[in-house]
Amino acid sequence: MDRLRLGINVDHVATIRNARGGDNPDPVRAALAAEAAGADGITAHLREDRRHIRDADMAAIREAVSIPLNFEMAATDEMARIARATRPHAVCLVPEKREERTTEGGLKVAGDANRLTDYVAPLAEMGARVSLFVAPDPRQIEAAARVGAAVVELHTGTYCDAVAAGELQVAADELTRLTEAARLAAEAGLEVHAGHGITYDSVGPLAAIPQIVELNIGHFLIGEAVFRGLDGAIVEMRRRMDLARDVVA
Ligand code: PXP
Repeated sequence: MDRLRLGINVDHVATIRNARGGDNPDPVRAALAAEAAGADGITAHLREDRRHIRDADMAAIREAVSIPLNFEMAATDEMARIARATRPHAVCLVPEKREERTTEGGLKVAGDANRLTDYVAPLAEMGARVSLFVAPDPRQIEAAARVGAAVVELHTGTYCDAVAAGELQVAADELTRLTEAARLAAEAGLEVHAGHGITYDSVGPLAAIPQIVELNIGHFLIGEAVFRGLDGAIVEMRRRMDLARDVVA
């Protein structure tokens, strides 16, 4: 199998910075460290409430790194304007609720198809790979292909939470849904990514799904960096991904 791409989400470096105000730790420095550790891309989510990444961070990361930037955002007019100014390699559209702790579910593409078709087209025309963050649900995947997305990112949160809780049957059922969803998406001509909640314990079976070409991982790695350094945390994730796909580094 081909080597998977690993996108590193640096949002939570900004979460720690913002807890104290000031400039430390710097998400741009984290993005550069991730690049040096072998990351294939950097993901950052500019939330409406700016609770972690801020506008200036997004612009500075875009400027600093040589690997692709994946701009995660809600499908709002404000974010479309900022994405146009930032010109990222990719835009990942996610649902956003102010009261949530993290992105809780996937986009309801099927129920919002007309608006999303109009929203995706200009982003794609400016050259961004447009990705929709969806649950592993056939309806949402079929709708993602219809609205003109190039990519779907499958929400792995339910699977990863079940692995963490030791709920083996839930994890197995959810892995089956993810496997089927990846197959369906690839058949529909979509590139398949996956992410949310991935840890060392949950990465292997996800990395082994053949249609998935990219994993985006943030919170666990930023936490693990406290113990191993960011470089060590990323190298170990990379090792587990390669092992699952039988890639010799
Ligand atoms: N992919 C998407 C679309 C996300 O919204 C997130 C969380 O911001 C991630 C990946 C990374 O999730 P985590 O931080 O749990 O690894």
